[in-house]
Amino acid sequence: MKVLAVSGSLRRDSYNTKLLRAAEELLPSVVEMELWDGLKAVPPYDEEDDVRPAPPAVAALREAIAEADAILIATPEYNSSVPGQLKNALDWVSRPLATSALRNKPVAVVGASTGAFGAVWAQGELRKVLGAIGARVVDADVAVGHAPTKFDEDGDLVDEATLEQLGEVLDALLAETPAALVAA
Ligand SMILES: Cc1cc2nc3c(=O)[nH]c(=O)nc-3n(C[C@H](O)[C@H](O)[C@H](O)COP(=O)(O)O)c2cc1C
Repeated sequence: MKVLAVSGSLRRDSYNTKLLRAAEELLPSVVEMELWDGLKAVPPYDEEDDVRPAPPAVAALREAIAEADAILIATPEYNSSVPGQLKNALDWVSRPLATSALRNKPVAVVGASTGAFGAVWAQGELRKVLGAIGARVVDADVAVGHAPTKFDEDGDLVDEATLEQLGEVLDALLAETPAALVAA
């Protein structure tokens, strides 16, 4: 089983990327997680460029999503919303709407911010966008507020309550994968 993890932050020391690395540690050994590192290469969406073949970074993302059983997105909050580059990448993936790689794909959204609220507004907006695209958005969340206090100097998530919530989100996400639904 494969989970594609997408961080909405481009910076090297991103707390959201660290949150995804913590998720990788929590996943059962039968689940492989790929941390997608192509966000910066995705060009600005232009409907005139949305033709076959797609720009390489877009084609790679669409393919990675299509091959994954589930998607885990960690989003920062920029000015109370989703970072533009993440929204832009989702706009690309959303087309064509009826057959997009995200349609019916199980997706969980988590987020971290340096402020008190852990990117809750951005997470809410991201869930709305994913719902509009037709993804199966998992009803579970982790909002990591005051992020610098939740990770140690090696970048490991050390806050027990956050680790527990993250584990619950992953359980909820894996329960929505086709293999889990067939077994249930
Ligand atoms: C352009 C910009 C806008 C921001 N707006 C918000 C905001 O609305 N709410 C918030 O809690 N943090 C905001 N922040 C602070 C981010 O939470 C903080 O930079 C966080 O570390 C970003 O996530 P990252 O560590 O994954 O890069 C903003 C940061 C930037 C650069």
